Amino acid sequence: EKVLLLYSGGLDTSVMAKWIQENLKKEVVTLTLNIGNSNLDEIKEKAISLGVSDAIVEDVKNEFAEKYIKKEIYADGFYGDYPLSTAIARPLMAEKAVKYAEEYGCSTIAHGSTGKGNDQVRFEVTIKALNNNIDVIAPVRDWNMNRPDEIAYAKSHGINITYGGKYSVDENLWGRSIEGSNLEKLTNPVEDDVYEWVTPPKNAPDIETELSLEFKNGIPSAINGVHYSLKEITERLNKIAGENGIGFINHIENRVTGIKSHEIYECPAAVLILKAHKIFESLILNKNEADIKNYMDFQWSNNVYNGLWYDPVMEHINAFEQSINKYIEGEIKLGLYKGNISLKTIDSEYSLYDYDTVSYDNSIFKQDSAKGFIDIYKNNTVLGSAARKKTLKV
Ligand code: ARG
Ligand code: SIN
Repeated sequence: EKVLLLYSGGLDTSVMAKWIQENLKKEVVTLTLNIGNSNLDEIKEKAISLGVSDAIVEDVKNEFAEKYIKKEIYADGFYGDYPLSTAIARPLMAEKAVKYAEEYGCSTIAHGSTGKGNDQVRFEVTIKALNNNIDVIAPVRDWNMNRPDEIAYAKSHGINITYGGKYSVDENLWGRSIEGSNLEKLTNPVEDDVYEWVTPPKNAPDIETELSLEFKNGIPSAINGVHYSLKEITERLNKIAGENGIGFINHIENRVTGIKSHEIYECPAAVLILKAHKIFESLILNKNEADIKNYMDFQWSNNVYNGLWYDPVMEHINAFEQSINKYIEGEIKLGLYKGNISLKTIDSEYSLYDYDTVSYDNSIFKQDSAKGFIDIYKNNTVLGSAARKKTLKV
């Protein structure tokens, strides 16, 4: 019997690789996906050194951008202030795990999440939605592993411990999330050592960086007139926006498991792209479209956060998002300055902004009709409040 292990190369999953072989007496096949900047060759070598029977590696950055990030841009995917970055990568990882488990004859998938978080939910709901016959184990959770025990186990089994730094970090192309250590006490101020992708605004350049983005079909297609794939645009904007102090989020969130967590996110490209996307929407969508989109976006984000990527309703929400996003096109110029993003100019062939109607200087708008409009429009409110004169309290 074989177990497919989602393997990052870190302490938890390295201990798991050995532990499953030793204690469950099962062969282990590791799967490592590069969604950000994992060194696949190094991780593969490490997996092999742990005695696994196969060490699969795959670079999925492009697929991540084209199939997942794209949908998130469509849906303005935020959970509070957090542009869903860890959450959006989990269904892709689960999908690949199922695919390779089937291919390599593995009856079980193992992942490294704890029992306190969201990721266990995302992995397991997605795996089960795709193949309900696969068993899932999560040793950190199921056998209550803790750091000191893991380190002792690693040392006694010759596992090279390269667990990184004091925080628990998850990163991919769309963002970096940091938790644990002294972030767990809200009375501790956040220290500068959490910053990696974002330059703290106080240290960012004293001059504004101007940038133009072209959007086509709902997603950015060019920076300063040069066309790139969505993956490359994301990589470039992580750098440009990050250098200008953009995309640092200090956030307290409600997990699926009912507990609060204090998390830091660094998502420079995500914050910039979603901001630009929102500005395009304000120009292009009419009020009815914008209202229903807000509702759809909210549902989309909650479902993704909550691990329901494969819930049947997502087919319909994604269809709506795809349809409405075909009008999100045009060019936007932004100023980036010490953590702020400001709008310079915007233009779109689908713009609903009509200068001749809007302008106070030279207007074709029939102001004299407004009087009659209000005469009728007021009825609902005036009749109601008149009838309840004695009791109405607002
Ligand atoms: N709280 C975030 C989410 O649920 C990130 C979780 C993983 N973060 C981490 N530092 N390990 O999407
Ligand atoms: C974990 O529990 O493994 C990380 C945090 C989360 O999933 O929310």
